[in-house]
Amino acid sequence: MTVSDNKNKDVYNPSKGILDKANIRGYEKLYQQSIKNPEAFWAGIAKELNWYKPWKKVLEWKYPFAKWFVDGKTNIVANAVDRHLTTFRRNKIAIIWEGENNETKTLSYYALNREVSKFANVLKAAGIKKGDRVTIYMPRIPEQVIAMLATAKIGAIHSVVYGGFSVEALHARIIDSASKVVITADGGYMNNKIVQLKSITDEAVKRSPSVETVIVVKRIGHDINMESGRDYWYHDLMNLPIASPKCETEVMDAEDPLYILYTSGTTGAPKGVVHTIGGYMTYIYATMKYVFDIKEEDRWWCTADPGWVTGHSYIVYAPLMLGTTSIMYEGSPTYPYPDRWWSIVEKYGVNVLYTTPTGIRSLMRFGELWVNRRDLSSLRLLGTVGEPINPEAWRWYYRVIGKEKCPIMDTWWQTETGGFMITPLPETPLRPGSAAKPFFGIVADVVDEKGRPVSPNMEGSLIIKKPWPGMLRTIYRDPERYKKVYWEKIPGNVYTTGDSAKKDEDGYIWIIGRQDDVIKVSGYRLGTAEIESALVSHPAVAEAAAIGKPHEIKGTAIKVFVVLRTGFSASDDLMDELRSHVAKELGPIAKPEEIQFVDSLPKTRSGKIMRRLLKARELGMPEGDISTLEE
Ligand code: WT7
Repeated sequence: MTVSDNKNKDVYNPSKGILDKANIRGYEKLYQQSIKNPEAFWAGIAKELNWYKPWKKVLEWKYPFAKWFVDGKTNIVANAVDRHLTTFRRNKIAIIWEGENNETKTLSYYALNREVSKFANVLKAAGIKKGDRVTIYMPRIPEQVIAMLATAKIGAIHSVVYGGFSVEALHARIIDSASKVVITADGGYMNNKIVQLKSITDEAVKRSPSVETVIVVKRIGHDINMESGRDYWYHDLMNLPIASPKCETEVMDAEDPLYILYTSGTTGAPKGVVHTIGGYMTYIYATMKYVFDIKEEDRWWCTADPGWVTGHSYIVYAPLMLGTTSIMYEGSPTYPYPDRWWSIVEKYGVNVLYTTPTGIRSLMRFGELWVNRRDLSSLRLLGTVGEPINPEAWRWYYRVIGKEKCPIMDTWWQTETGGFMITPLPETPLRPGSAAKPFFGIVADVVDEKGRPVSPNMEGSLIIKKPWPGMLRTIYRDPERYKKVYWEKIPGNVYTTGDSAKKDEDGYIWIIGRQDDVIKVSGYRLGTAEIESALVSHPAVAEAAAIGKPHEIKGTAIKVFVVLRTGFSASDDLMDELRSHVAKELGPIAKPEEIQFVDSLPKTRSGKIMRRLLKARELGMPEGDISTLEE
């Protein structure tokens, strides 16, 4: 990704209107205060939220394990739902949902509370208790959010698995979390096709002994397999007398887990990132309030899926905690036409839009006419996340969508960080392609492999030097891996992000991309090892190596090198078959863009595949140090 643009000093300043109304101003001074005394800063934010019992200590840091708001008692649902019920927000719209086929559903905070409470009682009746794990594998429908909130309300732990994942990915996540209940749907609509969520669930659950109950939302209404004694329709359960709309919200410790969210790492096994309640809720509340400058009357739309951390934090929890009206769209951005997103902005009068560089690039290619036939004048602020945004896409987003009046918040963060870490504020002079500066309380730097800060504009590793409330607490059931992956890669007891970046002379941070064996395809995070292990599970494949390669729309696309087993020969048919095989194992997002059949893979003398070398050769770049190459 090119970052040479920082040399041009191409700067975009916010209008007076944006500045005058901003929820916060004076970053430089406030930032200094926040890092000088982070505990006072975070306690100030946490006091804006409801606690059943106050904390005794803001932070207890025993490297690399943090506890925030020690001994505080709360529940995120008490803040996202319950507390609005005694104010005018009781009748405010919490969620506006639009289905791919134009259906609309709205839920006021009052109605949301009823649904959540009813389903919480259903989960209790299914034997779910505080601390139990619940897997949610659903399309983007309101029941997905209701299921998350109901789980959190009774103190259980949700593990949401993105509805675009396939059998193996779902299975691995159910097994690792040992979930008792899986909540799914009979299918989902995506780009006018039906995603067969229930048959994938059946395959995965068959080999998951922990699962006692599967709850199925009827979204499509087609014939599916329902296993008696295990599978129940959501609507049937919600009509039983046990599904009372009254349910006490469980009093939780600030450090009780809220959810597990699996993400790709450098080995084949996904990592269960654990977030706890008190620090996480405080962190996402503050970031959303200040970065997206949320006003009482705003309509907020985050185009992500609740199955990713972006959706957890900024579709479900933070918008609801702020009492915002949050929009949720089920389907594809191009169905039935490439103006679908813009039609939603127009239809609901969206004020703040948060999306991805891939989303922008993929709609850019349809041209401006599709945008200009829609009224986007309600927009005030824009946002992007998930991968570096190239300056060309940034400028298009700014000019064509924002009509040169909406600042773009390029927010850098990770599943592990809970919320935005490097980000502009509405007042920040923007430089296309830079995520600007660290959020309040965040101490970030760009360093070399020994942990020494690199000079301005030099590439290095992005690290975080101090704990923050939204940080992951551990990897589920694997604290050793947590320590090794995040805290021991770079000396100095710092958190390693796995990203490389540059910092310019003004302190603006420019994210370059992943340094490890993680590939960001359309903003989705995939491990090379996951893709490779999906490939070698095919009978024709002996060995495989995956690399990321620049792609005009996806940012990065997957290319794989495959060594065939004897008896198999390379052909176009086999290539297609392998691509479908990966899609079937992991999900369509993991489908390789390119497959190249090779006789052997470059390896180190210890037998490790040198992906770095494959990538350098593929891109025509210098090969670097190849002294450990076997031949
Ligand atoms: C990785 C984390 C955090 C929500 C979605 C992704 C990349 C994220 C940006 C950005 C450049 C970005 C990084 C990061 N990334 N935001 N604004 N600019 N790169 O969460 O799946 O955990 O991925 O996404 O490489 O490490 P995730």
